[in-house]
Amino acid sequence: MVACGTAFLACHVAKYWFEKIVRIPVEVDVASEFRYREPPVTPGTTAIFVSQSGETADTLAALRYMALKGATILSVVNVAESSIARESDLVLPSYAGIEIGVASTKAFTAQLTVLALLAVKIAHAKGVINDIQYQGYITDLNCIPRLISQALSIDVAVQKVALKLATAQDIIFLGRGSMYPLAMEGALKLKEISYIHAEGYPSGELKHGPIALIDKKVPVVVLAPMDALFEKSVSNMQEVMARAGKVLLLSCQQGLNAASDGTWATISMPAAPELITPIIYAVPAQLLAYYTAVAKGTDADQPRNLAKSVTVE
Ligand code: M6R
Repeated sequence: MVACGTAFLACHVAKYWFEKIVRIPVEVDVASEFRYREPPVTPGTTAIFVSQSGETADTLAALRYMALKGATILSVVNVAESSIARESDLVLPSYAGIEIGVASTKAFTAQLTVLALLAVKIAHAKGVINDIQYQGYITDLNCIPRLISQALSIDVAVQKVALKLATAQDIIFLGRGSMYPLAMEGALKLKEISYIHAEGYPSGELKHGPIALIDKKVPVVVLAPMDALFEKSVSNMQEVMARAGKVLLLSCQQGLNAASDGTWATISMPAAPELITPIIYAVPAQLLAYYTAVAKGTDADQPRNLAKSVTVE
């Protein structure tokens, strides 16, 4: 799976779905690096390219490399008549509608939804999941609109926290499992539209270096849904608080009841089935960036130095 920017982070989330649910090994890479590694391509390889615009030069070049090597090319694109769509063997439109803001938001959640559905469909077609499991996943996917609406109701809470985040110079986002790419996405959105330096790390990697950055000036956003990794995320969060780090914890109410002691701020998220949790947690990641940009007075729609579609390598 190859893409750039936010589309790459959608691929990164999908890697968790494909490996866990479909049991297919997946490589993900940013397009600008992938091609120059000259990766060997084994027969039977399918290459998936994800792009909102379908015109990103690095992604298109990587697609052409894989097509020349004989891979089957599948693309997930929002602009159905784009170059990437035209040069693919198979196209899955993401149907997000025209996205005008430079920061990719609804395109990201639509890409995730298409990729989750694709993983579930392939798993079922391969017989890796049975009919009951398949129906269970489809039911989960059908919960997305309701849970996104619920997640959007945290608006006021996010607005309040954003006023505090807007004064920070550096912000760290932490997540485990599929929340790790979401942590990177939260950081990317924040950098892009509020111009605050932010980094997303896997929570467990903190102790291998980034923990040295923690002090009372650095807010740390912890994405910790109530899943199998919750306890480990909480333990990483406590390491941050023990070093005077200001933790903003995002979890469902049950998670907050269990772990919010000592945090700087909390945001209560709806409890969601594991499959769609990354899609639901994209909402606070985007809202945090948006309200921080509004608080700072930056242009959230047309951030400086950025183009909607990057058509040069
Ligand atoms: O059009 P694409 O999805 O191929 O664009 C890829 C990236 O340039 C894009 O996601 C970029 O990172 C966004 N500005 C992020 O919000």
